Amino acid sequence: MKKIAIMTSGGDSPGMNGAVRAAVRTAFYYNMTPYGILSGYKGMIEDNIFELKHSDVSNIIGRGGTILQTARSQEFRTEEGQKKAVENLKKRGIEALVVIGGDGSLSGAKVLYDKYDIKSIGIPGSIDNDIYGTDVSLGVDTALTVIMDSVDMINNTASSHGRTFIIEVMGRHCGYLAVMAGIATGADAVIIPEVKPDLDGIISKFKKRAEDGKTRNILIVAEGAGSAYEFGKILQEAGTFDARITVLGHIQRGGFPSYFDRVLGSRMGAAAIEGLINGRNGVMTGLQGNKIEYVPYEDVFSRKHEMNQNVVKLLDILT
Ligand code: F6P
Repeated sequence: MKKIAIMTSGGDSPGMNGAVRAAVRTAFYYNMTPYGILSGYKGMIEDNIFELKHSDVSNIIGRGGTILQTARSQEFRTEEGQKKAVENLKKRGIEALVVIGGDGSLSGAKVLYDKYDIKSIGIPGSIDNDIYGTDVSLGVDTALTVIMDSVDMINNTASSHGRTFIIEVMGRHCGYLAVMAGIATGADAVIIPEVKPDLDGIISKFKKRAEDGKTRNILIVAEGAGSAYEFGKILQEAGTFDARITVLGHIQRGGFPSYFDRVLGSRMGAAAIEGLINGRNGVMTGLQGNKIEYVPYEDVFSRKHEMNQNVVKLLDILT
């Protein structure tokens, strides 16, 4: 295998640049020619594909986002779009891809192999930590650092005023960020999509604590569980709470990659290239314990990333 292309797709996540850099440098190490595809499947269709030089990935490991840019392509869902994309790869002799993104991005890679014989290895990139087969995905650690810093700051002003803050964090279907942020910031309650919220329980807990003089409360809500504004309204209507809302939004995705995400991206980028050289295909690099394993796409698509129940229990104890 001589020519491979690297792309990032779906929502960006901090650490993607470290993975791109490692894939490029590892490809050079093994005398391969790396290509970059701009904006994921969209760029593949629009022929935005270019040979990458060693210097193209200089000084990117500390940058957030992705230098290859990213997009969610509707056209790639059509047969016509897929054929255009494949034509653009084949005319350059590109035999395999490194696809960095969430499970939607990896399912595109599976289509490319099943229908057009383009091989690939995936790297999980998503701050939500909802991808099966890896303890953590790229970007999760950085996102949590941003969330933790933000909640700590909100906590300062919440303490001064004795207020209740409802803070919405990302996580479309997965409460991982909310749970971990809840533990790391000492939040008073957390609402996640996986568990039906017990609002009455939260309200009576806050009221009881107010009787003991504690009027500052931090409630963290994962976006998939409902809107912070709705929960805020309910709390406000329950009386006694001077409630304020903060939706953290995309600052959670835009952080400078942490040490952990830089190293994880580097390990996974290198493992993707070495996997392709060793004949692997249709697998995702996953961090399991402290080892990088190769997880078949079928498992990634058919199974769910389970929340560690010991951690959920710990959160329950601590709130
Ligand atoms: O998948 C990661 C994620 O950050 C979700 O938590 C969030 O709902 C979504 O992306 C936001 O996507 P977009 O940037 O396309 O609005």
